Amino acid sequence: MSSYLFASSPCSVSRFSLLLGSSLLFFGIKSSAPRLTRLRHTSKSWAHLCTRSSSKFFSALSSPPPAHDDVIMLGIETSCDDTAAAVVRGNGDILSQVVSSQADLLSRYGGVAPKMAEEAHSLVIDQVVQRALDDAKLTGNDLSAVAVTIGPGLSLCLRVGVQKARRLAGVFSLPIVGVHHMEAHALVARLIERNLQFPFLALLISGGHNLLILAHKLGHYLQLGTTIDDAIGEAYDKTARWLGLDMRKGGGPALEELALEGDANSINFSIPMRQHKDCNFSYAGLKTQVRLAIESRKISMENNPISLANLDDRRSQADIAASFQRVAVLHLEERCQRAIEWALKIEPSIKYLVLSGGVASNKYVRARLSHVVENNGLELVCPPPSLCTDNGVMVAWTGIEHFLLGRFDPPPPADEPEDAMFELRPRWPLGEEYSQGKSEARSLKRSRVFPSLTSMIQGSVQN
Ligand code: KG4
Ligand code: ZN
Repeated sequence: MSSYLFASSPCSVSRFSLLLGSSLLFFGIKSSAPRLTRLRHTSKSWAHLCTRSSSKFFSALSSPPPAHDDVIMLGIETSCDDTAAAVVRGNGDILSQVVSSQADLLSRYGGVAPKMAEEAHSLVIDQVVQRALDDAKLTGNDLSAVAVTIGPGLSLCLRVGVQKARRLAGVFSLPIVGVHHMEAHALVARLIERNLQFPFLALLISGGHNLLILAHKLGHYLQLGTTIDDAIGEAYDKTARWLGLDMRKGGGPALEELALEGDANSINFSIPMRQHKDCNFSYAGLKTQVRLAIESRKISMENNPISLANLDDRRSQADIAASFQRVAVLHLEERCQRAIEWALKIEPSIKYLVLSGGVASNKYVRARLSHVVENNGLELVCPPPSLCTDNGVMVAWTGIEHFLLGRFDPPPPADEPEDAMFELRPRWPLGEEYSQGKSEARSLKRSRVFPSLTSMIQGSVQN
């Protein structure tokens, strides 16, 4: 079965840099002028029905759902180091997409420093959101609701997006949909592949998460596996930094590029967690192996740009990059194979595996995973790179999916004070753990973890 959807973006993406003297990147999606919507009235009266609901993010649907085409959702994403916004129509048309990246900050400070990331978000959030509305040729008046990431992520960063969403929603009296960042990574695949029905399997790989998820239905997820320490994106970023790569384009993309020059079999890094017959991940040990390999080759690890390396050193660095990538991805392949077997036992009707999150924009990752998926008779759905890395489209789309089921919050007051309290969920699992998936190797910190999205939705449905 040929089933490899490197789904191309539904509209053309134009890119330009601008403002503040740094390399903030905006992706703008040009589209024809959107038709204005009639739903404003529907959504307002609908929201009104919910104003007496609790402050939970989910309200019961008490009037017929609006037609998909009539919904227009603004999505805002600030959970980590990208400030993103997009406007998406209920039928999946992307009316605009804007991303302002903090790659410069990342390269200067060697990682996401929460306070600095917060400042960077605050500096551009108004422009990013305004740009998304302008590109869509809309104003707040034309929106049906605002979707915003409320977790998981860095509290300081999440707060910037949520505050912006609440200000806008207050002024235009719009409902708010609080979105789970990892659910958004998974669900954006349904915008790309319209045949993608529940149940499906998802491998979500990013800077902070490594998740294997069985998606039973919207808002109902079973976690088959997660990382016991680092996520794969973190391992890519660290390795890239130690190898002196140019972090301005992002550690992952820089390492992917260098790996093309190297021999992937030159170093036999050991494959993580082979002795654990589950679907969990670990990347801390591989990071240590990479560090030792770099040290043993006497490559200076910090402040050593690869552009200054001689040919032999560069070759040696490329070999490390390629060998790291082979083993990091082999670990994904092995866990994915087991997850497919588990998932097909639980839900034999599964046809698709979704591959998403920033690391899923890597061509080697996509090619290797496509083999695993096809060998098992499934179809791989992988969003285009601009929808794999953090973006506002996935938040808007997830907002639409929940909004159409009546899961949203009423509009906040127009005069809400700046220091008003609202809930953020920095540590928020997507689903309950599969009992067979609980590894003895698990060392997850469990303090201050919110109940999972799935248990919250199930609780609210029962109520
Ligand atoms: O989903 P994402 O944009 O943000 C988080 O939610 O963390 O993922 C970011 C991660 C970073 O670690 C970045 O280096 C990695 O995705 N990444 C890649 C590639 N593009 C982004 N890793 C490997 N190869 C790539 N081409
Ligand atoms: Zn992400």
